[in-house]
Amino acid sequence: MIDLVVCVGEGAKESDAELLARRVNAPLTNELGSGLTLLMDRTGLSLAGYGLRYQGNFEQMLPRISRGRLGHEMLIRVAKPKGPGLKAIDAAAGMGEDALLLAAAGYEVTMYERNAVIAALLRDAMERAKENALLKDIVERMHLTEGNSTELMPKEAGTADIVYLDPMFPPRQKTGLVNKKLQLIQKLEQPCVDERAMLDAALSVRPKKIIIKRPLKGAYLAGAEPNYTVKGKAIRYDCFAFPDRFETDEVAGR
Ligand SMILES: C[S@@+](CC[C@H](N)C(=O)[O-])C[C@H]1O[C@@H](n2cnc3c(N)ncnc32)[C@H](O)[C@@H]1O
Repeated sequence: MIDLVVCVGEGAKESDAELLARRVNAPLTNELGSGLTLLMDRTGLSLAGYGLRYQGNFEQMLPRISRGRLGHEMLIRVAKPKGPGLKAIDAAAGMGEDALLLAAAGYEVTMYERNAVIAALLRDAMERAKENALLKDIVERMHLTEGNSTELMPKEAGTADIVYLDPMFPPRQKTGLVNKKLQLIQKLEQPCVDERAMLDAALSVRPKKIIIKRPLKGAYLAGAEPNYTVKGKAIRYDCFAFPDRFETDEVAGR
């Protein structure tokens, strides 16, 4: 059970905060809590606690999605977007940064996030981003569903070119080396324990490619050996490729 309150700050509507408090099943207060606080104020929604404060901000991503830079992003080099009408599923949306890269590359992205607090922060960041002319069209290609992708993805069979999986890694880094976002989000979410179910759900979509983000030296998700791997400095992408969308079960070694 996490220690969480929702706090109505200056410039926030009490009725909005009440709705949010019900949604995340936390008490509504007028001051910061002793653990985590979802703080609603005139700047939007942020997560505060343990001397840290974090708010999703897609404007900070603008340099990464600028013309000429986006194609150098490892995720985009691995996805290899080609042609119009591309669709992606991001089964573990988190704060939507990877989904934004995919949307900037032209994908219509269905995002799933099962943690109500993270989903609320993401929804708020998306709403604020729509006010930025450079981000508006991109963020409008991002569609968030709050819920468990393992249960919801099988309903999406045949709808996506790629499925992207980035469940929480087992915590390895020292706290001091992890950024603010991760420090707070790690307090909300545990590392993925249903790896096989998540991979099976991704396979049931029958995409052309499943891309899985892993720590550089981490084990394969669910122990399933991918067709190929692309390595960066700290992370790698394990890929299952199905150019003709068939025989997905066999490739995953079942
Ligand atoms: C490492 S974060 C993803 C970070 C994300 N790629 C980004 O760019 O911000 C993992 C997120 O996946 C969510 N998650 C894990 N398993 C999930 C599932 N089965 N369904 C929906 N969300 C899930 C967690 O709540 C967490 O917010």
